[in-house]
Amino acid sequence: MVRGIAFVVGAGFAAVVAWALLWTVVGLAGDSSAKTWTGAPATAETDFHLHPRSAGLASDGVFGKYDKQQLQRGFQVYKEVCAACHSLRFVAFRDLEGIGYKPAQVKAIAQSYDTIPSINPDTGEPATRKGTPADRFPLVFANDVAARAANNNAIPPDLSYITRARHGGGDYVYSLITGYQDQSPEMLKKYPEIKTPKGLHSNPYFANLNIAMPPPLRSEGQVQYQDGTKPTVDQMAKDVAAFLTWTADPTLETRHQAGFAAVIFLLIASGLAFGAYRNIWRDVKH
Ligand code: HEC
Repeated sequence: MVRGIAFVVGAGFAAVVAWALLWTVVGLAGDSSAKTWTGAPATAETDFHLHPRSAGLASDGVFGKYDKQQLQRGFQVYKEVCAACHSLRFVAFRDLEGIGYKPAQVKAIAQSYDTIPSINPDTGEPATRKGTPADRFPLVFANDVAARAANNNAIPPDLSYITRARHGGGDYVYSLITGYQDQSPEMLKKYPEIKTPKGLHSNPYFANLNIAMPPPLRSEGQVQYQDGTKPTVDQMAKDVAAFLTWTADPTLETRHQAGFAAVIFLLIASGLAFGAYRNIWRDVKH
């Protein structure tokens, strides 16, 4: 009886997997320009949107670790380039100790920001003050209206968790900022309506192929690294992608270590359970 039920459940699973595989294969083999594999009509996005390229970050994979030197370079790129438009409002200055800065260095970084909102104690008027390690990175724009006004009606999103919020994470950020390219004549012929409007920029890694952000990294040496690494556009993009992977997932290393320990523990526990099973059923015919 139990075997019968187990068989039916197993057969049900197998049927669902086979069905899904069948439709994936049929969809991929079909005329992809007319329809996507889900059956929806093709659009410029389904035909020309590109999947992120790998940035080859040290944190990739189950044994991934952060390269702190790279994270510090990435922070420098953020501070000197991206911070003109993007906030990092969920990161506190003291969190930077996590990428290898000493407390004194963190204090100096915090103090280099002098736009932390405050109240003048003598007059009660709104004022600004220098940062302390306990402060978070200040906002770049007072609100969304100001952000839109300065950015061609688009809002630069906060970057604290962007690598979690986008498929591809760090690879996406890397691909996006190195992926600006002219629209191919083939694409324009097929979808004339996708022609980049004035003020936007063509980028096949962005969801709708035209993005309001101008290419932020344009030339080698846009930032000067202290550690001798050559600041090519590709390198700066990788470094800032690594940094933004860290801001969104600062506990990645401890999580990987804990996961590894848990797997070892489970392997040992499985061995013990198997031994116990053999022992208990030793003399019983089954
Ligand atoms: C001149 C202002 C400006 C600078 C400098 C800038 N950005 Fe942007 N960024 C924007 C705007 C505006 C958007 C919103 C684009 C849109 O919605 O079309 C954006 C969007 C983004 C997005 C989100 C894309 C998405 O999928 O929604 C990421 C990631 C990003 N920027 C990363 C960066 C990084 C990394 C840097 C620094 C190397 C940087 N930006 C520098 C203005 C800027």
